[in-house]
Amino acid sequence: MILDLSRLPILETERLRLSPQTHADAALLYPVMGDPEVMAYWDVSEIDDPEVVASIVGSQVEAMEAGRAMHWVMRGLSDAVFVGACDLSDIDRWHRRAEVGFMLGRDAWGRGYGLEAMQAVVSFAAANGLRRLTARTHLGNRRSETLLEKLGFAEEGLLRGHILRDGERRDCRVFGLLL
Ligand SMILES: CC(C)(COP(=O)(O)OP(=O)(O)OC[C@H]1O[C@@H](n2cnc3c(N)ncnc32)[C@H](O)[C@@H]1OP(=O)(O)O)[C@@H](O)C(=O)NCCC(=O)NCCS
Repeated sequence: MILDLSRLPILETERLRLSPQTHADAALLYPVMGDPEVMAYWDVSEIDDPEVVASIVGSQVEAMEAGRAMHWVMRGLSDAVFVGACDLSDIDRWHRRAEVGFMLGRDAWGRGYGLEAMQAVVSFAAANGLRRLTARTHLGNRRSETLLEKLGFAEEGLLRGHILRDGERRDCRVFGLLL
């Protein structure tokens, strides 16, 4: 079966444990999603209301229960310190594809954690029958583009004015990886 999520997977890397996201993780994600620097290239600007983060996390947990997505929270393997979150969303079992996403707390940037976590997610996707992964970045998000290129993603195109944020339309780049 392609990507059976009836038992939610825990992934481990050299330095990180990726655990399935739960409602309680909203408290960890709130400071990250409230940070303008982290959210600079996100579809919505930083969020200053914990209830909004709780409701986003709630819909993500619901999507996991319905088998439409897999969201993980990343923690240090040795100290369990919260690092960030990553996901496979828009899972399409017929076409064997999904979209990847990732977000780390500002303190965790620049240590190779994003790459380490996403290598595990890509391997998990490949081992569970997915054959194509996509990602979408806002123009200017060099850190994310570099990470995607390190993972082997190639740029496939430009979505002009795809996002309306802070009253302005933003272009997005589409990246793809065939597994
Ligand atoms: C994009 C993002 C996840 C990148 O996280 P990251 O962990 O810093 O990314 P990487 O794993 O690629 O690490 C990159 C840096 O770690 C350094 N590094 C340190 N130790 C390392 C190690 N052991 N292994 C690999 N790289 C290491 C690299 O040299 C590189 O440094 P540089 O940025 O000075 O060149 C993070 O910046 C982020 O959360 N951004 C905001 C959210 C966002 O925009 N998400 C994506 C939306 S599409």
